[in-house]
Amino acid sequence: MTQDELKALVAQAAIEHVVPGALVGVGTGSTVNHFIDALAKIKDRIAGAVSSSVQSTERLRRHGIPVVEAAALDRPLPVYVDGADEIDHHGYMIKGGGAALTREKIVADLAERFVCIADESKLVDTLGRFPLPVEVIPMAAPQIARRFEAMGATATLRLGVTTDNGQPILDVRGLKITDPLAMETEINQWPGVVTVGIFARHKASLCLLGTAEGVRTLR
Ligand code: 5RP
Repeated sequence: MTQDELKALVAQAAIEHVVPGALVGVGTGSTVNHFIDALAKIKDRIAGAVSSSVQSTERLRRHGIPVVEAAALDRPLPVYVDGADEIDHHGYMIKGGGAALTREKIVADLAERFVCIADESKLVDTLGRFPLPVEVIPMAAPQIARRFEAMGATATLRLGVTTDNGQPILDVRGLKITDPLAMETEINQWPGVVTVGIFARHKASLCLLGTAEGVRTLR
């Protein structure tokens, strides 16, 4: 199976985790695009979606799925479905390859469960091979980059990209993230960091991993 077929497989499997009659949180990316397409087939059985990006909102609306603003919620979402750039065996993730990390973390925070959908290439023993995305306030970018350099890493601005919130992204190479919770906590408090793409506090409740043998569930 191709990587795209594996993504479609896990996206379809995630439909079983959608709660009938409720809103579902929807992430961003090529795997999630497959999930949105699968969701369209059961759209009459859900109340609608809460989206983590302009891109996903547009795709949901094209399918006729109602999109509800995150700020309008008065109760938790039962489930949030999203992809990952890397996931380890504890459910800790790197996200933000599609620059949607801030809104993804906000919607994940509104949900009771995070169902990660990913092809098997995303599973790692230790996070950090994928460049860590960090959304930043522009005036702080050089100082934040220097902080990463002091940790032995290299931070570069993602050229030509601003997030849905109008901010740039730093991509950080050379980090070995052995303690994702501690590193997320540390980086989050640097002035000018909007969101770091380590999802440790908001780790996956379970991961549906697409493999050549079928869907493997990691808990
Ligand atoms: C977007 C994300 C995506 O979930 C991540 O980049 C995975 O994307 P894809 O499903 O296209 O491999 O974090 O900000």
